[in-house]
Amino acid sequence: MPIETTLEFLRARCSGAIALCGSRNSLEEVDATADLRKLGIEQLIDWQAVEGEMHEIAGVLPLSIHKAAELRTDAGIGAGIDAVVIVDQQNFRGILRAIEPLAHRQVLILPLEPEWVVAAELPSYSALDAAWKTTSDTNYVARSGLKGHYLEFGTFWGSSFFPAFYRYHQWLAGKFFAFDSFAGLSQPLRQETEFSAGDFRPGTYCSNVRSFQALAEFVGMPAERCVVVPGFYRETLAGQAPEQYGLAPQSVSVCAIDCDLMEPTAQVLEFVTPLLEPGALLYFDDWRLCRASPVVGERAAALQWLKKHPDIELVELYRASWQHQWFIFQRNP
Ligand SMILES: C[S@@+](CC[C@H](N)C(=O)[O-])C[C@H]1O[C@@H](n2cnc3c(N)ncnc32)[C@H](O)[C@@H]1O
Repeated sequence: MPIETTLEFLRARCSGAIALCGSRNSLEEVDATADLRKLGIEQLIDWQAVEGEMHEIAGVLPLSIHKAAELRTDAGIGAGIDAVVIVDQQNFRGILRAIEPLAHRQVLILPLEPEWVVAAELPSYSALDAAWKTTSDTNYVARSGLKGHYLEFGTFWGSSFFPAFYRYHQWLAGKFFAFDSFAGLSQPLRQETEFSAGDFRPGTYCSNVRSFQALAEFVGMPAERCVVVPGFYRETLAGQAPEQYGLAPQSVSVCAIDCDLMEPTAQVLEFVTPLLEPGALLYFDDWRLCRASPVVGERAAALQWLKKHPDIELVELYRASWQHQWFIFQRNP
């Protein structure tokens, strides 16, 4: 996709300046193929920049992420950087972590190409082919006749959510729900920070609703199948009736939990208990993170939940990496 197309998409959604962000090499490559000035780009962000050691590219001195975030605060909407295009494919996932200070300030952030998030050519399989050619979870969904909703709790910028839509959309007839604070993690317990090597801190893994909704459109997700519920779970889930989101009992076929911490995971599990259909898939991204602790993290919340609901059984399905786990949700009579 030419950069002009991405800029046009963004210009329809933002009121201020658009900056490009990447490594020095990737920024120079863009300038070599499409003159930055002609593109109307006045700000560059070098995500690895060391203050005082930057050099101009096409007459523009790149900013560090820290400086770009300050500019946004000082300038206010419309005046400073209002949107960022990440132009560095190799580092784009790392940049989406590093650029969180701008996400917190509601800057609209997009990758240069939708194909960096979901493959351009998405195959369509018959049920039989699905048995061999897709992931085990998709295979299970296809083979089991599951047709309900997909819920994801902890979406960040959509790295797992958008590919999940394209994995399941031909099998599930329901909607795809993204529940996230869009302000990063809530307060972790001390051991959750310690057992994640300092990764889990308040506000980390922050995307914003603006960027998430724009990316949904950018990757071609049909608006009628995407429901975004922003807010911390203590407000959007705890004590809330699922019907307000259009969720009926036993209408959920796949539930993916990736909110890292014990407290929000417990809020999610209580919320989804009446919603999961027997045979639904239940995924924990961090089943073995936090040392697979029985007192902190996602697994601890699940163990407490199972104790409280002795009729519920989690049947192991599979895992593709050490930290996560797929289960089949069942209720014993
Ligand atoms: C590790 S990220 C999710 C990553 C994503 N699934 C992916 O694959 O890229 C954790 C997410 O959980 C969300 N989160 C954590 N605590 C939350 C809470 N109490 N309420 C709502 N969202 C929360 C954060 O905002 C963050 O987006």
